[in-house]
Amino acid sequence: MSEYHGRWSNRFTYILAATGAAVGLGNIWKFPYIMGENGGGAFVLVYLVCIALIGVPVMMAEVMIGKYARLAPSRSVVKLARDTGRSSAWRVTGWGGVIAGFLILSFYVVIAGWAVAYTWYGFSGSFTGRDAAEIGQLFASLNASPYPLLGWSGFIVLGTSIVVGKGVQKGLEKAVNYMMPVLFLLLTIMVIYAANTGEFAEAVRFMFEPDFSKLSWNGVLIALGHSFFTLSLASGIMIMYGAYLPEGTSLVKTSVYIAMMDTLVALMAGLAIFPVVFANGLPAGAGPGLIFQSLPIAFGQMPLGSLFGGSFFLMVVVAAFTSSIALIESSVAWLVEHRGLQRWQAATLAGLGIWLMSLLTVFSLTGAEWTILSLWGDLRMSFFDLLDYVTANILLPLGGLIISVFSAWAVKEEISRETLATTDGLYRLWQVCLRYIAPVSISLVFLNLIGVLNL
Ligand code: PHE
Ligand code: NA
Repeated sequence: MSEYHGRWSNRFTYILAATGAAVGLGNIWKFPYIMGENGGGAFVLVYLVCIALIGVPVMMAEVMIGKYARLAPSRSVVKLARDTGRSSAWRVTGWGGVIAGFLILSFYVVIAGWAVAYTWYGFSGSFTGRDAAEIGQLFASLNASPYPLLGWSGFIVLGTSIVVGKGVQKGLEKAVNYMMPVLFLLLTIMVIYAANTGEFAEAVRFMFEPDFSKLSWNGVLIALGHSFFTLSLASGIMIMYGAYLPEGTSLVKTSVYIAMMDTLVALMAGLAIFPVVFANGLPAGAGPGLIFQSLPIAFGQMPLGSLFGGSFFLMVVVAAFTSSIALIESSVAWLVEHRGLQRWQAATLAGLGIWLMSLLTVFSLTGAEWTILSLWGDLRMSFFDLLDYVTANILLPLGGLIISVFSAWAVKEEISRETLATTDGLYRLWQVCLRYIAPVSISLVFLNLIGVLNL
């Protein structure tokens, strides 16, 4: 079988691209607010354990599948299944990935649109000298009407479609080269600033002192789901990137490295945000608006705040953009392979579809009356919450469960051993995580949540 893809020119480009996909809104926007809503420390601890024992091994499994077959995600799964004497029905993971990627992107672009708006606010000095109430007002007015939101998010959709349609990701991934250090630098400045002016000790206690009475089973599921979301797992993306993995690159080491970078950015975002939150008496559980309602207060008070504020949100936009490119790629690749479209046609169609889907999120942020769904029991959520919940907390963990069972039970040991190419000890550890720890814990959390179990 001929090779479908080229390779990354080197290991470094691969790491940049995979880190670009991983580090995004999940780290800077989502992690702080879900941590705030789920009580802090205990949530963080469960999240870290999920990353280490489930996320990282699943990432290795996905990269392994891609590296072995060197094909697009669902074809890679089929090839590996066949070569190992299994049914090609395992390709469901591929479909799940396409659907999850599409749905995630439909709300992701709206949040990225907020960041575009805030880049403009930052540089134009809108944060300067504003107090917490005024900053809250700024956020509320951004969400008062759907049209500006559609414009801001349309900007992201358009940019993503153009880049993916033209197939110029490689150039963009090189840009990540410059963006990552700047993002780290700005986050470091914010953490230092927050440490000096905000309630830093309280924030550290909040994030690192686990109080399990504050963590519900739903919170555990959210931590688990987020470990998949933040590492871009179960969406076909790491299989795709694995297909480009250069020969001789350690899949095990690079996966650990990517997960560490991702986790570092998330923790730094928390350390930048919560001191400001506590110092200004904002609620930790403020929800999706948390970062937009807290950080601008700090930017508004610090020297050169407009420059730092504008640049910070610009970095958030770039981080979101490199993740959006990865997210749209699964739909585009599917349209090209299964529907025979040209790349630019597929990118246009996917972009249009995502922009239309994003209307659900936009209207649920601006016109709450008709968008509040009443699901079973007392669980009420807007379309936006529903999309976020269903993708991150149901589709991704389910996909992760299937990938774990596939790669550690169904795939022949010789093949996985050879493709992972690591020491015997690490191989065994990987196998134990995916054979037992991941499937058992994912199932337990699900069963407990739907009330079959009652732990
Ligand atoms: N990992 C990205 C983030 O943290 C989101 C993402 C999810 C990207 C799934 C690709 C696939 O923001
Ligand atoms: Na992430």
